[in-house]
Amino acid sequence: VNLTALQVMQDAPVIPVIVLNDVAHAVPMARALVAGGIRMLEVTLRTPQALACMEAIANEVEGAVVGAGTVRSPQDAAAAVKAGARFAVSPGYTRAVGQACRDHGLSLLPGVATGSEIMMAQEDGYTELKFFPAMQAGGPAMLKAWSGPFFDVKFCPTGGVTQQNANDLLSLPNVACVGGSWLVPSDALAQGDWARIEALAREASQLPR
Ligand code: 3PG
Repeated sequence: VNLTALQVMQDAPVIPVIVLNDVAHAVPMARALVAGGIRMLEVTLRTPQALACMEAIANEVEGAVVGAGTVRSPQDAAAAVKAGARFAVSPGYTRAVGQACRDHGLSLLPGVATGSEIMMAQEDGYTELKFFPAMQAGGPAMLKAWSGPFFDVKFCPTGGVTQQNANDLLSLPNVACVGGSWLVPSDALAQGDWARIEALAREASQLPR
């Protein structure tokens, strides 16, 4: 798979964190995001339908690049690849998850929240990391502090990020993009309000970096 973590982070200012409970929602939702300018789609492995949703998007939605979120084990990584995922995002980092992703050719954004976790991910070759949970664990001030010792790392802060506070993060030199669930509200999915999801994606894709 020729897709690097940096390419995943640089494609748009926001990576949507998506929770899907109904396979029928997957394709129209993904089409709405792509129409709004968001192509890198993180479908979280939090529901029984997640893998089937990833497969439907991978097979049917032109322009979308499906990734798996909430990857917590080597088994998750294997299942995600089989379902068509081209990148993985994890809420934390373990050597086993990193190894499994490398074995499968899956680019990984490892989740970190402390200096030790950053160092462990860097030891395994990762320089693009997800900061999770970003706003809860220190937000922009934490990223500014990390820019000293970890000057060679780029972050994707995720957790508590909104259209309103995204600029505070995206304006930092060590932030490549942010992640967040606000682009795909559960009520918009339930109502089949694809126009609203497209509008949220368009607004997010126009955030300055
Ligand atoms: C998550 O894991 O749910 C993501 O961090 C999204 O968090 P958010 O709902 O605060 O955007």
